[in-house]
Order: sequence, then C-alpha cells, then structure tokens
Amino acid sequence: MPGVIAKPESGFQNIIVKKLHPTFAAQISGVDFSQSLSDETFDEVLRAVTKYGVVVFRNTNLTDETHLAFARRFGELDDVKPYISAGRKNRLRYDELFDVSNVEVDGTILDPGSPRGQANKGNDLFHVDSSFNPRRAGYSLLLAHELPPPGMGGHTAFADTRTAYDDLPEDLKETLHQNNYVAAHSTHHSRKLAAPDFFRDLDPLDYPMGRHYLVQQHESSGRMNLYIASHVHHLEGLEPDESTELFDRLYKHATQPEYTVEIEWQTPGDLVVWDNTCTMHRAVGGPFLRKYRRDMRRATVHDSSSQAWGLNEHSDVRRRVLYILRTF
Ligand code: OGA
Ligand code: MN
Repeated sequence: MPGVIAKPESGFQNIIVKKLHPTFAAQISGVDFSQSLSDETFDEVLRAVTKYGVVVFRNTNLTDETHLAFARRFGELDDVKPYISAGRKNRLRYDELFDVSNVEVDGTILDPGSPRGQANKGNDLFHVDSSFNPRRAGYSLLLAHELPPPGMGGHTAFADTRTAYDDLPEDLKETLHQNNYVAAHSTHHSRKLAAPDFFRDLDPLDYPMGRHYLVQQHESSGRMNLYIASHVHHLEGLEPDESTELFDRLYKHATQPEYTVEIEWQTPGDLVVWDNTCTMHRAVGGPFLRKYRRDMRRATVHDSSSQAWGLNEHSDVRRRVLYILRTF
C-alpha cells in the first residue's frame, strides 16, 4: 500500500482525511468509535465515502455489535438468512454479518480446495457486492477480527470506476452513451470464472441475473460511473463475442494499476468502508490461506439510490451458488 499522502484534505472539521491514491481512497483518523458518532461527524464520514469511494479506519476497537450499529447509520442492512437456510451454518452471531473469513464453524482453517474454498475464489476477481441480487449493495463495511502475520498477504484491492469512466476515449463514451447497455450480473458466472474446473458443469444461464445499466450516474457525487464487476455475464443486445470483447475492454481498462490501490490490513479492528456503486474490490490472496486464520466480517448496506434495483423486479430473493448440494 502506498504511504498516506501527507497533507490532510480540506473541507472536514470533525475528522482528519488523508488520501491514499491520487484519485480515490482515503484514510480517516480522529474518530472515537467507543461512543456513537455525532451527526456532524457521521455526515463528514459519509461525505468522505461519497467523495473517495473507499475509506480506511485503523484500529477502531469495534465489536460485532458496534460494527452493526455504525453500519445501520448508512442505511438498511442486508443479511445472510437465505444462505443459512440453504444449509450453511453461521459461525457468527448476527445474520447481518457476512462471514468473509477462511475460518470453519469449528475454528479450523478452511481448505481452499473444499466447496466453500472454491466458491471463495470468486472474491479474488474485481467485483462489486450483490449486483447479482434484485437489490444491489450500496456500502460495505469490512472489519478485521483476526489477521495473518505481516508479509503473508490477505490485502484488499480497490478500483476507481468513476475515474476509469472519465478517462475512456471520447468515441467509446459516445458508443456507450448511444447504446445505453444493460449488463446481466451473475454470481454463478464469476465463481465459475475463478474456479472453472470445480464449477465445470454449472451454467450461469440456468439462473436469473441482476440487470443494471452499464454506465450510470453515481447519484450522491453526481459523477458518472462504469458499473462493472466480474459478475457481468453479458451485455444485453450484443452477440456473445461482441459482448465479451466490449466488456473485457472496459474491465481491463478499469483495473489497470493507475486506477487501483491495495489496502494492507494492519491490526484487528481495522475497518474499510466502500461504496459498491462507484468502486470495485477484490481479495488479493497470499500464502496465509492454508496456514493462518483471516477472520473478516462484513456488514452490507442495501443501496437506496434510484438505481438500487436496476431493471430487476423488486423481490427479497438473494441469489447464491448451491455448492453445498453438489448437484452439478
Ligand atoms: C467482501 C470482499 C475481500 C477481502 O468482503 O465483499 O470481497 O479482501 N472481501 O476479504
Ligand atoms: Mn466483495
């Protein structure tokens, strides 16, 4: 991770904001998480997330309870109830916490070759959270509870899809503007991309997908955004090869090093908050995977912008890959 660029950003009275990258991502200090944030402080945090897309707080001392209480201030929380009812037991106490760890319910380290280990590989590809569900995720708040030793990996990388859009060649922007493409997002697709052998017999087309405009305005900042993710199976209205070619071009463009930043988790209690509607992220992996526990818990806030449901029917369904049942 690049060092914190020295000078605090102006425009904040209650928090100290320092940029981590020339175009996005910032570290915030000066917040006392041992008590509920004042409305003024929370408003500044929200303003920072809106502007920088990704914000990092070090050593917050948050617990499951205070993590959830903080997350609720951003909006309505998503939960894992549909996944639990599909047969996966929850290691965590609260259904509003997504288990993003490599830890089994009994505390042992997850075997990367196991069905859940294979499914987790999807997180290594740049994505946004829940774009495959009828209602997409707005903010995600990921809190570290236990980390591998330094040097063993386990960082999280982010991509700035607003600046990536801004920098597209004008003729391509014009084509995107004229066609107003709809992208079909599928969790089956991204998991299959990341673990092709394991998901060999899975056909994403057998399942409903989340439909969202490819280029859209990020309402809270007013900037345009490329709403893309490894979940995108195809762009509607194009032949499969044209769709793949255009999508790959955009995805490669947006994930170039100049639009990305890697955040190193330093101590348990570190919290990263990101806006899924203007950034992508991915788990970077590393040699820790089979050796050390990495216990990360995520609170996920439903999007409440006018684009939250994209072109999907409003429903409470959450989509999942039924790897536990091994029916494929
Ligand atoms: C997530 C996620 C990446 C990581 O929590 O949504 O993709 O580094 N996490 O754990
Ligand atoms: Mn994710």
